[in-house]
Amino acid sequence: MKTVFTVILVASVATFVGCASFRPPADMRGSDVAAPDQAPVEKQYATRAPNADLTALIPRTFKGQPPLIPHEVEKYLPITVEENDCLDCHISDDFKGRKMPRMGDSHFSQTEKEADGSPKVNMSRWQCNSCHVAQVDAPPLVDNTFVGNK
Ligand code: HEC
Ligand code: HEC
Repeated sequence: MKTVFTVILVASVATFVGCASFRPPADMRGSDVAAPDQAPVEKQYATRAPNADLTALIPRTFKGQPPLIPHEVEKYLPITVEENDCLDCHISDDFKGRKMPRMGDSHFSQTEKEADGSPKVNMSRWQCNSCHVAQVDAPPLVDNTFVGNK
């Protein structure tokens, strides 16, 4: 009987200590589930103009990755059916005497040419910013151990 009593006493104390140190889980959202979502802080996109500095290119993290855009894009958007300012620079490796990263052959039609015989952009590559994204200086939301594989 005495042993049973001791066991119950020890269990009760352990439960009490356990409860006292209980902390509710911290939510990553920073607010209660029922609270309305807060608008995220507006991030500042890169404002650096392209300057033909090929050292500014952002290293790729895996093979076949669409390279990230290292310069500002605001001035060149939106891309419409009639107009695509990105092509001014990226259709060839030279723009007004400055060296440019030319889009790969994958971006040009294999079957059609422009009227003047120059390469024609493949329409599946027309909307550049559906694959290439501009950059903000934002830390990852969650720490991770991802290692790129080029
Ligand atoms: C005025 C010329 C110009 C325009 C317009 C321009 N770019 Fe660029 N872009 C460059 C230059 C020059 C670089 C090389 C890095 C630098 O100087 O910033 C570059 C780099 C890039 C890269 C990285 C390439 C790599 O191999 O890493 C991508 C992707 C890119 N631009 C996409 C775009 C997109 C999408 C648009 C339109 C929204 C655009 N660029 C408009 C000149 C331009
Ligand atoms: C469907 C996705 C997609 C679209 C749309 C797209 N790209 Fe790309 N881009 C890629 C991928 C993937 C690569 C890397 C492999 C390659 O060259 O195909 C790339 C590579 C590039 C490069 C680097 C070329 C090199 O050889 O290093 C430039 C510059 C570029 N794209 C510019 C553009 C521009 C400008 C547009 C719009 C006219 C555009 N891309 C549209 C996926 C895309």
